[in-house]
Amino acid sequence: MTVTLRSFAKINLGLRIGAARHDGFHELLTVYQTIGLQDLIKVSLERGPGIESSCADPRVPTDESNTCYRMVERARTFLRVRGRVVIEIEKWLPVQGGLGGASANAVTALLGFQKAANKSLPAEQQLQLAAEVGSDLPLFLIGGMVLGVGRGERVFPLQELPPTACVIVTPEGGVSTPEAFAAWDEKFGQEYSAWLYFPFSGAPVSAVKKGSRAENPLLELVRAGIVNDFERVVFPEHPELCEAKHALQRAGADYASLSGSGSALYGLFTSADKAERAALRLRKKGWPSHATVTLTRDQYWKRIFV
Ligand code: C5P
Repeated sequence: MTVTLRSFAKINLGLRIGAARHDGFHELLTVYQTIGLQDLIKVSLERGPGIESSCADPRVPTDESNTCYRMVERARTFLRVRGRVVIEIEKWLPVQGGLGGASANAVTALLGFQKAANKSLPAEQQLQLAAEVGSDLPLFLIGGMVLGVGRGERVFPLQELPPTACVIVTPEGGVSTPEAFAAWDEKFGQEYSAWLYFPFSGAPVSAVKKGSRAENPLLELVRAGIVNDFERVVFPEHPELCEAKHALQRAGADYASLSGSGSALYGLFTSADKAERAALRLRKKGWPSHATVTLTRDQYWKRIFV
């Protein structure tokens, strides 16, 4: 049996970096939002031992360091499933792009594996194992709009906002997240280490007040001055990414930002039509660009299994 899944990407609607912790991670505060761009993951359970992962893109490791491998290895032990797990990754999302590609791949591989094995771990355990593999895996077990705290792995579903058109620009070359954090520590570590010190209370947060008359609440929300701290260290190192942000703004984005530590950027638009036209205009100027839409939690879960 082969299970095929869509592995959707995320963007970050703001990202604040807090204190460097003793475990080498940083306190984070971010809002993740799943979007319609995707990789494809195929999982099958065959006779024999081991886990095999493959991907035609040479930048994706296929050994035990692969996130899908690490995720399935953990789940297989706990579920006591025998047999050979074969995972195929069809890569469309950028590598080291800040869109959570490798993280989403791992979570969809887990879901595919559980379906193929006809067994599943309790939700809490899935979240825990996902967090062990990486800070931005757990969000993909929730989907839609998700508050991320702690090192980004503690996730809380937020009240859904209507789908919003967006354009993703994927400049060539990735950005290393650990290096971006190190650059942050060097430049701003002292200045900012105190303000995110207090742990989040754990109560789910509602992003928009009920009865808000905003025509598009997501666009209203980002106008509140939401920022991604990574821009302050990534843009000086990679000026072309700052240029891409300005190109998105010139193409009519109501809000544009780096996603995660980059290299991808996104722009939010008031209509799909405007986003399509902007993507076309950006491509003509040499920026690899894709028009897509934010995915609500419902849409995310309805579309995951092909
Ligand atoms: O959790 P993940 O594997 O994605 O993290 C990769 C690296 O990014 C970590 O080893 C750490 O250096 C850095 N990181 C961090 N603070 C976070 C998340 C990641 O310093 N909140």
